Amino acid sequence: MAQSNDSLWGGRFESGPSHALAALSKSTHFDWRLASYDLAGTNAHIKALAAAGFLSQDEVSKLQAAISELDDKIKAGEFAPKFEEEDVHAALERGLIEIAGAETAGKVRAGRSRNDQIATLIRSFLLDASDVIESELVSFIEVLMERAKEHGDAVMPGRTHFQHAQPVLLSHHLLAHAWPQVRNLERLSDWRRRAKLSPYGAGALAGNTLGLDPELVAKELGFDGTTQNSMDATSSRDVVAEFAFIASMIGIDLSRFAEEIIAWSTYEFGYVKLHDSFSTGSSIMPQKKNPDIAELARGKAGRLIGNLTGLLSTLKGLPLSYNRDLQEDKEPVFDSVDTLLVTLPAFTGMVATLKFDLERMASLAPLGFALATDVAEWLVKQGVVFRDAHEITGELVKFCEEHSLELHEPTDEQYLSISMHLLPELRSVLSVESAITSRNGAGGTSKSQAEIQLSKLEAFLASREN
Ligand code: ARG
Repeated sequence: MAQSNDSLWGGRFESGPSHALAALSKSTHFDWRLASYDLAGTNAHIKALAAAGFLSQDEVSKLQAAISELDDKIKAGEFAPKFEEEDVHAALERGLIEIAGAETAGKVRAGRSRNDQIATLIRSFLLDASDVIESELVSFIEVLMERAKEHGDAVMPGRTHFQHAQPVLLSHHLLAHAWPQVRNLERLSDWRRRAKLSPYGAGALAGNTLGLDPELVAKELGFDGTTQNSMDATSSRDVVAEFAFIASMIGIDLSRFAEEIIAWSTYEFGYVKLHDSFSTGSSIMPQKKNPDIAELARGKAGRLIGNLTGLLSTLKGLPLSYNRDLQEDKEPVFDSVDTLLVTLPAFTGMVATLKFDLERMASLAPLGFALATDVAEWLVKQGVVFRDAHEITGELVKFCEEHSLELHEPTDEQYLSISMHLLPELRSVLSVESAITSRNGAGGTSKSQAEIQLSKLEAFLASREN
């Protein structure tokens, strides 16, 4: 039942692990992804060991050469973990021993534990992943900005409760999907401050007795500093959960736009046509052109939320400090990273190539009594109390609905029959153009406000480059 044990922890055991335990315990199939980070950690750790007098300069050189050879071999596909190896740490220790010999490579494990190692590696991995996700988000925002500029004057129905509400600029609507992703970028920057602290040196839970300098390791690995409490360092994963939350939020924000694109591309809406290279066909219905990217983005948001809630459930109620449950932190966030990195480029490409039917959107913009608020606010400007203005406008809408008219279509007499305040001049505000240009307060839908938004977005993106 048992297998031989040449793992990292055989000494006090008389038999090796059972196959059943080994199968449950194994993480190599997913944590091997962290191999290059583990080697970087080892490289830094060697320097700390040398600084504390546990390795000679010769040994350091030998080990560093071995690390770089092992790294090359991994990249060339010449070194891989063995089936029975428990985790990335075990496989890499074997690799180092194979190259540098047990005498020297056997010293490297001193003063560190897989607990502080893994807590560090996941941070390094996520920090790199965040860079790539951030650059995908920037591309998405840039495409929204380009599309907004391209269609600066185009109008469309703005909706609340999915019903026609007030006309808006298409650019205003598009940029409304940029700002949530700006906030997600800000969230990632803020998260980075907490993530960029190295747990290395925390040991298994209580620190190390060898006088190793955690600051030295942190600096070597590009962290801004070290964590403050070794028990917290090895047992907390809020940094991982926070990343999973931001990934979910990115997915959720995309899914909201996805839902609109799905609606917009229907026959009934007819706002957009998807580009052939960003839509799919049906195996049976020859006429079909399906918004699969948008649907997958909407579906993937569920998956991202699942990763977050699964991870939070793992963390709930865990006592200090390290518990093996924590091994469950990696697969969810690996999946979140992979999910975003397949979703974002496709989504951005789909938005970049959407063809808007501007005429149709413009023709629908005033319908559904979308200018009713403009009537009420015109009345207020004539001195009518808003409560009365609302009431009068409601009656006008009712009249128009009964007579199948738009708000500007009743005759002067019909206006007056509804209210003495409904004068012919009212018609001057009953155009989409007037509705849009008059909404000129900060953050409103007027053209000049859209231009201000664009310059603010440009400034935000430029500030990230510095
Ligand atoms: N595979 C483990 C994880 O991902 C590494 C740490 C193992 N520590 C231990 N004491 N077994 O959390």
